[in-house]
Order: sequence, then C-alpha cells, then structure tokens
Amino acid sequence: MINQRLDFINLNQIRQEFSSVISEKEMSNLEELVRMYQRYRAGLNEISTKLENLDEDFRLNNDYAPIHSMESRMKSPQSLVNKLIRKKLPIKVNSVQNHIFDVAGIRVIASYIDDVYSVAELLKKQTDIKVIRTHDYIKNPKNNGYRSLQIVFSVPVFQTDGVYDIPVEVQFRTIGMDFWASLEHELVYKNNLDPKIKKQSQLKLKQYAADLNVMDQQMRDIFTQVHHLS
Ligand code: GTP
Ligand code: MG
Repeated sequence: MINQRLDFINLNQIRQEFSSVISEKEMSNLEELVRMYQRYRAGLNEISTKLENLDEDFRLNNDYAPIHSMESRMKSPQSLVNKLIRKKLPIKVNSVQNHIFDVAGIRVIASYIDDVYSVAELLKKQTDIKVIRTHDYIKNPKNNGYRSLQIVFSVPVFQTDGVYDIPVEVQFRTIGMDFWASLEHELVYKNNLDPKIKKQSQLKLKQYAADLNVMDQQMRDIFTQVHHLS
C-alpha cells in the first residue's frame, strides 16, 4: 500500500516565507484566498461523502449500482483567474463568491440515463443542502450537442471560525455523455488543428451526440426489461 502524503497548507509558514517580500495588503489578500480555497475543499468533501454514502446504500439494497464512477476536482488557481478575466470580474475573493460556482466540482457518471435523474433527486432531497442553480443540458442540449445535468448545491461547511455556505457544482451524466464530452473538450482546446477538419469534427460530434442519446434510451430499455422494472 502507498501512504499518500498530503501537503497541508499552513498560514504561519506562508507568512514567514513571504512577509518580507510582499506588502501587508498583498499578504492579507493571499491569506484570504488560501482560506477561501480551504472552505471550497471542505465543501467538496461534504458533497463527495454524501454521494459515496448514497452509492454504498444503493449497493446494499439493490443488485446493481446506479453510479458507475465519480471524480472530483478543485479548479486550479490559474483556471480560476482566467475565468475571472474572461468574465471581466476583479481578481478578488468576493468576485469568486458571488459569480463562480465551480471552484469545487464533482462528476457523477451513471450507466443509465434514468439513474442520472434518480441519483440527482436523492441528493436534492437532503435537507441540509440547497439547490442554487440547475442547468439541464440533457432535456435542453447545448447547440454543439453537449448533454449533462449540472446542479450547483450549497452545503454548510463548519470551519473553526464559523459556518459558511459553499457552492459545489455536480455534473450528472451517463457514460455515453461523458465519452462525448471528453472528446469534444479535447477538440475545443486543439488550436493547431486545420479549421476545416475542426469544423467537420464539430458537425460529426453534433450528430454523434444525437446517436448517443438514442443509444442511451435503447440501453435503458433493455436494462429495464432485463430487470423487469416496467
Ligand atoms: P463556464 O462555462 O465554466 O464559464 O461555466 P458556466 O457558468 O457558463 O456553466 P456551464 O453550464 O456553461 O458549464 C459548466 C461546466 O460544464 C464547464 O466547466 C464544463 O465542465 C461543462 N461544459 C459545459 N458546456 C460544455 C461543452 O459544450 N462541452 C464540454 N465538453 N463540456 C461542457
Ligand atoms: Mg459556460
């Protein structure tokens, strides 16, 4: 077994290391940013645990697991700053708190389309968290074909200095939708691709998104018959 060593962030060490090279104002901004990241990380842990508990309870009570896999990530500071710049917002903790909802993000990948909604519903029912935004790109796919159910939850995080409501974005999707989104994401960021090939690939992807949607329904139908659910 490999023991994972986590590098804990410690504010005293940061102060010692940087106080002679940056101003007091800059130091206080840095501290505020570090504290903010810590709160989002705690929010991510809270929602992750809820999803893991649901998954385990499902496995206990059913002979199949609706959640195929899950992944979580914290938005990197670079991509956070890029997003603030893109949205023409000042690089401040306040801007993040009021306008950016995906600092903490979790992807829940389900095998079947019905499970996407049933897992989301089970999370929505939990009384200690709130839904702050829903984008249902499965019912209303994006123009490029992108499908996913994206819900931003707000979860209370109990820190040493009090309680904070932290937004966590959860993307619920099927294996097919995830497969599609990974390739489309790669295509978007390929800048050195011949524009004609890029355009053709986008058109094909749009068609494949529709094909995958049909496939998701058909797989669900077979699954339902096999399990006599209808
Ligand atoms: P940003 O797009 O990140 O500025 O956030 P937003 O508030 O506009 O939310 P939106 O619903 O557009 O997207 C949130 C997340 O969903 C993104 O960060 C991606 O992970 C994913 N996503 C949204 N649209 C697409 C898409 O067209 N293709 C792919 N591959 N992923 C997408
Ligand atoms: Mg967007």
